[in-house]
Amino acid sequence: MDDFVTVAGVDDLESGELKKVVHEGKVLLLARVGDNYYCADNRCPHLGGDLSQGDLEGTIIKCPLHKSQFDLKDGKVIRWTNWSGIKLALSKIFRPPREMETYPLKIEEGKIMVQI
Ligand code: FES
Repeated sequence: MDDFVTVAGVDDLESGELKKVVHEGKVLLLARVGDNYYCADNRCPHLGGDLSQGDLEGTIIKCPLHKSQFDLKDGKVIRWTNWSGIKLALSKIFRPPREMETYPLKIEEGKIMVQI
């Protein structure tokens, strides 16, 4: 198991805010929902959209590119793109839905620490 690393301070994010952080070349998405914090890959598993530029509703992050939705609690796909019909069917063949990678996180002494 890797050790936890500090990626930000708890006061660096307001509730409902998304933040992109880079740690040793790895680009991560931090999110704060109330007093809970979440960490995931910043890269959308669909086609690499910058999730830090997406919309956050509760723990659901919506990608700015094609509007796929993922739950930050576990990375599960809520919706794969906002496409429909043949376009969605083809996209699922060529790019099957896949979960967003999430990372364990803990708060210690005002620091957001992530296990990556
Ligand atoms: S890149 Fe995120 S939904 Fe397409």
